[in-house]
Amino acid sequence: MIATRISDYSDTPVLDARFFCSYYNGNPTSLQISDFICRRKQGEPVSKILGQRGFWKRDFIVSKDVLDPRPDSETLIEAVLKYYTDKKQKLSILDIGTGSGCLLLTLLDEYPNAQGLGIDKSKEALKIARQNDVSCRAEFKMDDFTDSCFGQDYAKFDIIVSNPPYIKTDDIALLDIAVRQFDPLSALDGGVDGLDAYRYLSKTLPLLLKDDGMIFFEIGQGQERDVIDLMETNHEFICAEQIKDLSGIIRILAFRKTK
Ligand SMILES: C[S@@+](CC[C@H](N)C(=O)[O-])C[C@H]1O[C@@H](n2cnc3c(N)ncnc32)[C@H](O)[C@@H]1O
Repeated sequence: MIATRISDYSDTPVLDARFFCSYYNGNPTSLQISDFICRRKQGEPVSKILGQRGFWKRDFIVSKDVLDPRPDSETLIEAVLKYYTDKKQKLSILDIGTGSGCLLLTLLDEYPNAQGLGIDKSKEALKIARQNDVSCRAEFKMDDFTDSCFGQDYAKFDIIVSNPPYIKTDDIALLDIAVRQFDPLSALDGGVDGLDAYRYLSKTLPLLLKDDGMIFFEIGQGQERDVIDLMETNHEFICAEQIKDLSGIIRILAFRKTK
């Protein structure tokens, strides 16, 4: 009955109804049902209504202040696991634009001896990231990677990960309503050509990465050539691998320092 009522507003009405019902242990109240149907009709994603989204091996708290963790971003976790096979390593990990903290906290779950710092310019996002840090192993800090002094007081890291905003400003209006209206603009807007974040980071990351460290960037469809050019311009980094997501799109770029 819930699925039928939202079928004109969702591509996956049965799945949505199932998620909703299981969240309330199969027994939602009529008020909860009508609220769910009303919000779903307005295009709000199920994750934002329920306040949680599955990523890798667990659920993360989400809100209007953080990007919903995406299955595509799990490709970044797989990439790190491929290069760092010893799970007992004492790695230091920096996550730039941490949002819900899904990337950093997943990596800390996978590497029990690692430590991590997640930075974001959004105070509200950092609150959510801290709530998601159930084992209290990460440090979260408000910082802005466009600041001229970004990272100057940081130690160097073994691994730097980032899924920065990479949508072209003009393309934001074309996104699905679930993204356009319910994910924060600051998580999406990558500037005129979508590459602003990579432009900044290509200049500051040499200072923040250990000599034998690696950077893993998530990128938008078709951005690989531009991002590789930005990172390789000053001969500080070399692209180690371009990694495809499940749809066959190059989604992750791995970089090393040039020797
Ligand atoms: C695409 S979201 C990624 C969130 C999370 N890492 C993930 O993969 O789901 C980008 C994040 O970068 C943050 N951000 C945008 N511009 C920033 C800046 N100049 N400095 C620091 N964080 C920034 C946003 O607030 C947002 O949380």
